[in-house]
Amino acid sequence: MKAINTEEKKLIEVEELYKTFRLRDGMHKRHSIEAVRGISFCLGKGETLALVGESGGGKTTVGRIILGLEKPTSGIVRYKGDDIRQLTGEKKREYRKAVQAVFQDPHSSLNPKMRIGDIISEPLANFTYKGNYQERLARLLEIVGLTGDFIWRYPHQCSGGQKQRVAIARALAADPEAVILDEPLSALDISIQTQIITLFNSLKKQHGISFLLITHDLRAVRAMADRVAVTYLGRIVEASEKRAFFENPVHPYSQSLLEAVPSIDGLQKLKITI
Ligand SMILES: Nc1ncnc2c1ncn2[C@@H]1O[C@H](COP(=O)(O)OP(=O)(O)O)[C@@H](O)[C@H]1O
Ligand SMILES: [Mg+2]
Repeated sequence: MKAINTEEKKLIEVEELYKTFRLRDGMHKRHSIEAVRGISFCLGKGETLALVGESGGGKTTVGRIILGLEKPTSGIVRYKGDDIRQLTGEKKREYRKAVQAVFQDPHSSLNPKMRIGDIISEPLANFTYKGNYQERLARLLEIVGLTGDFIWRYPHQCSGGQKQRVAIARALAADPEAVILDEPLSALDISIQTQIITLFNSLKKQHGISFLLITHDLRAVRAMADRVAVTYLGRIVEASEKRAFFENPVHPYSQSLLEAVPSIDGLQKLKITI
């Protein structure tokens, strides 16, 4: 398969990633799962790359490897050209700050005992933010469309959509260059999904943030992505510009994915433009 070409400046490069999980069953028999089997792609500055594919196809594992939460069995993740495993000191800190994540379930990703203000301020403290915390907090809430009084609330006092906005504000607090979005809409009502898609797109446009959108939701892909990489059985089987992917999918698996997507009429009813 042809490698993904990008005119954008390279931010994160993933080269031939493999991940095998070794498990024991109840009878002490060992077996292994090849979750990721040779995945390569590049995320450019200020672009949204969708990593699409069936459940169990290794997408989350790739995201976790990029975030340093999982070690690859082999392969390399590069940040601005440097192998992330070789980063030390200031460069390691810079990487941890530069790449943030928003996950599927805002409820379990927010500490229920912390107020929203403290949840969003935590990265400011971790990354020793030097400006005024109150002003920064107010600005972050404004960016994600929440009013200032949210700082006093606890997660259980917010709706699902509001909690996801808090998770986004927390990710933005680190002033990241890239955010990994792992199924960021799946837990939300459809009308809220549309609002959050609009928010992501404005973050890309106004703040130049790159997104790796991990999803099986082609509606979100259509509304957000610049390019699409399709995973199937732990590999990338197709990598295209968005329009080419939707108009002329090459791989049979991509074609079967597209057969299940809502019509353009349906998307327009949801006020999603393509
Ligand atoms: N920590 C783990 N231990 C064992 N198996 C895992 C672990 N994480 C993921 N897997 C397995 O790896 C495969 C890929 O999972 P995942 O990356 O979550 O796929 P996706 O996000 O595409 O649904 C699945 O078969 C899953 O069960
Ligand atoms: Mg997943």
